[in-house]
Amino acid sequence: MSVRSTWWQAGALAQAAARAAGAAAMPWFRRADLVVEGKADASPVTIADRSAEAAARAVIAAACPDDAWLGEETGTATRLDGQDGPGSGRTWIVDPIDGTRNFVRGIPLWSVLVACVEGTDVAERVIASAIGFPALGEWYEAVRGGGARCNGLPIAVSSVSELAQAGFGYYTYEMFRQHGLETVFQAFSSGTAEQRGGGDAYLHMLVASGRLDVCVEPGLQVWDIAASSLIVEEAGGRFSDLTGGRDLRAGHAVLSNGALHTASIALLHRLRH
Ligand code: IPD
Ligand code: CA
Repeated sequence: MSVRSTWWQAGALAQAAARAAGAAAMPWFRRADLVVEGKADASPVTIADRSAEAAARAVIAAACPDDAWLGEETGTATRLDGQDGPGSGRTWIVDPIDGTRNFVRGIPLWSVLVACVEGTDVAERVIASAIGFPALGEWYEAVRGGGARCNGLPIAVSSVSELAQAGFGYYTYEMFRQHGLETVFQAFSSGTAEQRGGGDAYLHMLVASGRLDVCVEPGLQVWDIAASSLIVEEAGGRFSDLTGGRDLRAGHAVLSNGALHTASIALLHRLRH
């Protein structure tokens, strides 16, 4: 079997896992009796997050038992079947609900993030990913080299080439403040035409589909960015960390339409040095 056909199989499996996770989470959305717990990092978690991760994990374990796992709620496993010995060299990186704060407030911008990566170092390569917004009915996916789609139709980034004309996406001002990046927030907010906050991966998919032009994201875990990075790249855009490197574990990210990437990294460099 060719490498490319195994990547397309991984893409189909990513979509199946995202659908299963979405189906597990949806019954809890806007339920008045949903119990919200706090994690060690003070972020919220619910039975919907845990049920969604279990559902995605079951789908992938059944198809690829010797693949590795990294999930936000269940952590790491070197093989999904729990056996000793070498695994396949692939890892599934899953955030069962990205935007749990939106989920618990009844805001439909939460998503299921599924990425399949080859390799185990910081330059690991995402080969397939799926992002589903079950409450919106929007399902994004990409396979490396095969373009990006939403609900089966190709998507593409915008052609905006000046930051002054751009739509800028971010999570919260507080994330910039916590990371000592207040001047970055101010410069991108005042130097762009439009600003949108609070959307988690939804903002990344707005970049991928040409509706926003650049997102700057401090304070990310690898499961917050792995799936988005491939979909934005396959839609014609670019992903990097704040310095222009491609480390998924850097803890922060810039996602852009590509045309704005060099200017965005240069602005970040000037502001941080
Ligand atoms: C959050 C989002 C957000 C990021 C936060 C995360 P969660 O994910 O990805 O964009 O800035 O740090 O906690 O907790 O809703 O999965
Ligand atoms: Ca999450």
